[in-house]
Amino acid sequence: SAMLAAGAAQAEYPDRPINMVVPFAAGGPTDNVARSLAEAMRPALGQTVVVENKGGAGGTIGTTQVARAQPDGYSILLMHAGFSTAPSLYKNPGYDPYKSFEPIGLVVDVPMTIIARSDFPPNNIQELADYVKKNKDKVSLANAGIGAASHLCGTMLVEALGVQLLTIPYKGTAPAMNDLLGKQVDLLCDQTTNTTQQIDSGKVKAYAVTSLKRVPTLPKLPTMDESGYKGFEVGIWHGMWVPKGTPKPVVDKLVKSLQAGLADPKFQERMKQLGATVLTTEANPQALEAKVKQQVPQWAELFKKAGVEQQ
Ligand code: MLT
Repeated sequence: SAMLAAGAAQAEYPDRPINMVVPFAAGGPTDNVARSLAEAMRPALGQTVVVENKGGAGGTIGTTQVARAQPDGYSILLMHAGFSTAPSLYKNPGYDPYKSFEPIGLVVDVPMTIIARSDFPPNNIQELADYVKKNKDKVSLANAGIGAASHLCGTMLVEALGVQLLTIPYKGTAPAMNDLLGKQVDLLCDQTTNTTQQIDSGKVKAYAVTSLKRVPTLPKLPTMDESGYKGFEVGIWHGMWVPKGTPKPVVDKLVKSLQAGLADPKFQERMKQLGATVLTTEANPQALEAKVKQQVPQWAELFKKAGVEQQ
């Protein structure tokens, strides 16, 4: 019967490669986490996880693609904190953070760094504050679109500096970084999973980290908080979701495989090198659901205070 056939199909899940959608460009911070994780989850799944980059509109295009995909476990989403900010930034983000998905679990937490092209004059955050005041409307800030992590951090930076910057959107911070390296844009606030190497090699100038504590892999960089911007904090958590209606056995298999992936020493080592914290104990649906419930109203309030309008 159809029911028996469905049961048998689920028992065999997964019997073909799984598509993991990253809603940003290849080679960027989310993609770096996704590709390491895809590799780390493979043994537990017994199948390959193929990463598909679907950038645009701050991650909402790729996120919506998964929300509308077949709920069969072959389309999974790896997205970050922006998942819970889009509903207050877009009139129609294309998905409902509470109703469109089954949460699988949290993955990593990533601090951000405020960086500039290598020949940008200011040498520290105080000099940056002076410089942007003297060069109003001339300083450009790259981001990965409205609702991206770089946009959230950029919004907080603009608030902190008290000066508007010329924002330039990209489909991810990988292309934004390319333009920063090419000196076509001045500033970027981006996750350490994309900036650590460039900072270490001196290819970009780095001013501060956005966590309340210094990042062990970037020990020389002061926090914004200690640089005079008290309470400035932004950490970008990542999570994994599948479309609403995905059968429970499939969800369970993905949860187990995610947990196995996060426990992989190679994955842990790679994340540590990039300044990310692996969220081992929160890699479950309950923790991710709670995170989204807490974050949606929190960001909505921050945007209201900052006067950020809906698109
Ligand atoms: C990316 O992967 O490109 C980033 O996560 C973009 C962002 O949110 O800033």
